[in-house]
Amino acid sequence: MDRLKGKVAFLTGAGAGIAKATAKAFVREGARVALFEIDRQVGERAAREIVQDGGEAIFVETDVTDEASVAAAVARTIERFGRLDVMMNCAGGSLAQDVNAHEMDLDVWHKTIALNLLHPFLCCRHGIPHMIAAGGGSIINFASHLGQIGSERPAYAAAKGGIVSFTKTLAALYAPHGIRANAIAPGSIRTERWLKRWGSEAAVDMSDPRQVERFTMRRNYPFSTGEPDDIAAVAVFLASNESRMLTGTTINADGGRSSYLKVGGAS
Ligand SMILES: NC(=O)c1ccc[n+]([C@@H]2O[C@H](COP(=O)([O-])OP(=O)(O)OC[C@H]3O[C@@H](n4cnc5c(N)ncnc54)[C@H](O)[C@@H]3O)[C@@H](O)[C@H]2O)c1
Repeated sequence: MDRLKGKVAFLTGAGAGIAKATAKAFVREGARVALFEIDRQVGERAAREIVQDGGEAIFVETDVTDEASVAAAVARTIERFGRLDVMMNCAGGSLAQDVNAHEMDLDVWHKTIALNLLHPFLCCRHGIPHMIAAGGGSIINFASHLGQIGSERPAYAAAKGGIVSFTKTLAALYAPHGIRANAIAPGSIRTERWLKRWGSEAAVDMSDPRQVERFTMRRNYPFSTGEPDDIAAVAVFLASNESRMLTGTTINADGGRSSYLKVGGAS
């Protein structure tokens, strides 16, 4: 219950999905949280749900790809809570237009890199001075199983692969200040967005190659599809002092997808 007692965290993209579930998990463990979110409606709702349950949370309307917006959100967090101990840079995602390099619109590349790679950099730029002032802290970045290996999404894979080495570099730079930096690389997480995209899993249409691919994936990697709370549990561990020996790591919470090839599994 008190694994994060006294700690202050901000989480980006916290109006939905993994970051929303994690914000609630952090609060259950005693933290106070600032929710940075671009969508006012979902951000306000998430903060309201936490406060109604007796927790302390603020929503800060933020575009994490914009430096002035990130700076203002961090300043608002410090103004309200007075310190910063945990930074979870979670907003992210890929675009359907993230296609072959020779066919991709350049704007898609820039948008994907801004959301998935520039954003954690901006949060570090403005959040780390407060963690140094607090005497240390924990940074949690978000990679993906796509980014540990190649995929059909070049911009997303480049951004998420970049997160892995950026996180190692943060670990090296800020260890003298007591700041740890780790990343989580989730597999398939059944967020609201994921459910909207993939719908019910009850029936598999064997004439649709993408559905067959997913069916095969689930058979070969039975632990690879999870719930937002599964990732929140990993994030609580990384935010807490229980993980004090971990820095510079990327935890592959992907049911083995980046770790083993199922021989004879392809169909
Ligand atoms: N869900 C998965 O299956 C999965 C798999 C691998 C990696 N990931 C990674 O995990 C992280 C969280 O994913 P999720 O599925 O929970 O996301 P999600 O799409 O459910 O939620 C993302 C939230 O970020 C917000 N957001 C988008 N752009 C923003 C911006 N510019 N500024 C502030 N907020 C913004 C959205 O409004 C949304 O509320 C992402 O980095 C994603 O790449 C997710």
